[in-house]
Amino acid sequence: MEKYKDKSVGTDERAEDLLSRMTVEEKIGQMLQVSYNTLSEEDYERYQELGIGSFLHVLGSEADDIRAKAANTRLGIPPIFGIDAIHGHALLNGATVFPSQLAVSCSFNRELIREMGRCTAREVAADGLDWTFSPVLCIARDLRWGRVDETFGEDSYVVGELGGAIIDGYECDNYIIACAKHYIAYGEAAGGRDAYDSPVTERKIREVFLPPFKKAADIGCGSMMTAYGSIDTLPLTANRHILREILKEEIGFDGFIVTDWENVRSLVTNQHVAEDLTEASKKAVEAGNDMSMNTHEFYECMLRLVGDSKIDMDLIDDAVRRILKIKFRLGLFDEKIRPNRDVIGCRGHKNVNYELAKESIVLLKNDNVLPLKGDTKTIAVVGPNTDDIRAQYGDWTFFSHPTPKENVAPLSDFYTVLRGMREVFGGKNILYSKGCDIYGRENYISDAVKAAEKADAVVCVIGDCLAQNGEYRDRADLELSGHQLELVKRLVGTQKPVIAVLVNCKPLCISYLKESCAAVIESFNGGDLGGMAVAEMMAGKFNPSGKLSISFPRHSAQTPCYYNQYTGWHGGGYVDLPKGNVYDFGDGLSYSKFEYSDLKLSKAKAAAGEIINVTVNVKNNGDMDGKETVMMFVNDVVSSHLTPTKQLKGFEKVFIKAGDTKKVTLKLDTNDLALVTSDLKYVVENGDFEIMVGRNTKEYLTAILTIE
Ligand code: BGC
Repeated sequence: MEKYKDKSVGTDERAEDLLSRMTVEEKIGQMLQVSYNTLSEEDYERYQELGIGSFLHVLGSEADDIRAKAANTRLGIPPIFGIDAIHGHALLNGATVFPSQLAVSCSFNRELIREMGRCTAREVAADGLDWTFSPVLCIARDLRWGRVDETFGEDSYVVGELGGAIIDGYECDNYIIACAKHYIAYGEAAGGRDAYDSPVTERKIREVFLPPFKKAADIGCGSMMTAYGSIDTLPLTANRHILREILKEEIGFDGFIVTDWENVRSLVTNQHVAEDLTEASKKAVEAGNDMSMNTHEFYECMLRLVGDSKIDMDLIDDAVRRILKIKFRLGLFDEKIRPNRDVIGCRGHKNVNYELAKESIVLLKNDNVLPLKGDTKTIAVVGPNTDDIRAQYGDWTFFSHPTPKENVAPLSDFYTVLRGMREVFGGKNILYSKGCDIYGRENYISDAVKAAEKADAVVCVIGDCLAQNGEYRDRADLELSGHQLELVKRLVGTQKPVIAVLVNCKPLCISYLKESCAAVIESFNGGDLGGMAVAEMMAGKFNPSGKLSISFPRHSAQTPCYYNQYTGWHGGGYVDLPKGNVYDFGDGLSYSKFEYSDLKLSKAKAAAGEIINVTVNVKNNGDMDGKETVMMFVNDVVSSHLTPTKQLKGFEKVFIKAGDTKKVTLKLDTNDLALVTSDLKYVVENGDFEIMVGRNTKEYLTAILTIE
């Protein structure tokens, strides 16, 4: 038997054996990924005969057909099927739709996020697929950007930790591989414009954007995706230094790199750095891309380059070897055992989904109105996002991808806030009015006000919609759109307590809500069960524990507003705005009050490379059991380069019974205190570091650690 067919032989050896048998055509075929949706019947037949390496956007039994055909090609190399299972395998109607990445990041719960990855992997694999284009490890630095909802928020450390957790979840059962994307600095494109140039230096890349990708590489993430944009004018697709030298050679990433959608073509058509597709293909492969997503001509161009001896065959071999190794690792050459299809949308996955939905909600303000008391008999539930599952799902579900669908109903048993409120508080106690739409086309505010006047409390569900978010959909204006603000003002005018619930993709300007509503709840895109979680939280059935992973500006022009900016001279404010954000990274209340005491370091003086145990006592002073995320920030007091006055370097989420005190230990690796110097060295500088441990960026205890 040929070695590559022998299961008892190691992955690397099998890949090497197969590689040695392949023709140039077969090798280049492996480097092409084509979208099933954009193929003509004729192309489809042709690519199957060629034994193309990968298909994307295939669902269900279609994959089985393609796989069977591939088995009949000369070497029978199986394709790898990729899908955007971004918050659940949600392009398949009926699969579990988890809250968005931004929503779940507010849970700060690594274990649950890992479980989300694990459930998603089972559903993807059960559907016959092998690879999710997730997680997004971009850092949301400019809120105007249309893809903020896809991120784990604004902090590099959080992105790395939660990204690591979900990658581990995706890959731990070896059903599928993950794809860390979009490499790199996509979230800092100038003006928040999707897929434009990010004017960042390599120093900043190393300090802010690289750590989550390094973490992904270190834990063995199977693939990474090259971002659309450019870094300081050099497109990432053609950026040899960033892809090949830093990611593959320096960090040692040993999975494969796929371009984003049509990146090779874009080098010619949008970025104008290549004369034609042949030059673009050469640049992309030389830079370090191993697979080209959906620029079909890549195949012929690469053959031409090989025929004309214009590309180094070693680069092709390296790319194909990487792809084959992953295929062997996943067991695609063998009888792959996949979970049964009935895991898709199953009860067990729903339970994980519900736990995450609950922990993702952030209670931002509570003037003693929540949980709703027994004398709240009638509740007006109003607002455009009260009963809109599309808005609640957000991006990357079957509604919008791979092609938009207007008239389709979700097959899963979903809960909008309206349904949740009716079930939790009893249908006859709920008065519903939409109030207005998101765009300002519909206005039923008087109906909503009438409902509010008859009620004891008002729940107003506002936010944004899919048309205002996603690729190509950046927003210059982050105010509540349409008549939403007017709706809230009129409701507040009734003198009834108004509880604002945000169902939205990203931070909006909500100063008025903070000033005038009795309570403010941020739920972002809560997935299938988001509405139930909001309702149960209002009823006091659980203690909210989410905290913001992203800051909220007062004004659209106040972006960027992330908490860990470099220090400056002149105050950093604007003459026509009050200082500071409306809400900051880390904000989030619960029904308990958590009190911190006794912050201690295992050592007050240490050398770089040592691990310090940081301990603190946290007391749950409320009468409800609850979870608290303990945050640890550091400040390099005097440093050779600017450093933020607070940088998160650790967090732990702990459960504390009412009245109990828990001693919480956070590990501080002093190597993580390093800054990146102008000559690109990672240095832990001697001197004092403030170690701040507490609830958020404003409430904490401080101890000093001296590095010497
Ligand atoms: C997006 C990627 C996605 C790919 C495949 C692109 O437009 O930028 O995030 O994975 O499409 O659907």
